[in-house]
Amino acid sequence: MTAAAIRLHPAGPLEAGVVAALQQACFPDDPWDEASIATLSSPPAGLVVIALDALDQPVGFVMARVAAEDAEILAIGVLPQARRGGIGRLLVEAAVGGSRDLGATALFLEVAEDNPAAWTLYKASGFFSVGRRPGYYKRADGRVAALVLRRNLEGA
Ligand SMILES: CC(C)(COP(=O)(O)OP(=O)(O)OC[C@H]1O[C@@H](n2cnc3c(N)ncnc32)[C@H](O)[C@@H]1OP(=O)(O)O)[C@@H](O)C(=O)NCCC(=O)NCCS
Repeated sequence: MTAAAIRLHPAGPLEAGVVAALQQACFPDDPWDEASIATLSSPPAGLVVIALDALDQPVGFVMARVAAEDAEILAIGVLPQARRGGIGRLLVEAAVGGSRDLGATALFLEVAEDNPAAWTLYKASGFFSVGRRPGYYKRADGRVAALVLRRNLEGA
């Protein structure tokens, strides 16, 4: 699947069920319940975008929150069968544009050190490391650090 066929759809609390299903498929070890997603996606601070394929089927999502000048990506995922087609990059840019439109000047996120797919994507999208949280994520065989990444939204 290529990004050219993708339509980005701004979602609200009513679509929390779709986002919960995408979250579960992308993060099987970290499902979120629909009620939490509905709360997090409520305007004006919530920002959720769903990627739809040519058949209008959801294949990815990004969820962010804006608090004054700072925004944070809470989750981003693309269905396994739709990866490496540029959809993740589109979703990051949707979070960047949406956060900027809501007045944010910086966008933050946390990424596990053992997730090279994600941090390669973020680096390519202009994020840089501003911190490290040792043992932040739990794994079956121990714990792994989170890198805190930032992208400046001003003048970009
Ligand atoms: C991370 C994720 C969202 C990327 O989505 P995607 O649609 O595959 O990403 P894209 O196709 O837009 O990739 C953009 C760039 O990111 C990098 N990238 C993406 N997946 C990669 C991988 N598996 N290995 C190395 N680099 C990768 C590449 O630089 C890629 O550009 P290229 O294909 O031109 O080389 C997806 O792998 C995913 O949903 N993973 C599981 C959930 C997750 O880990 N979310 C992030 C938590 S912080």
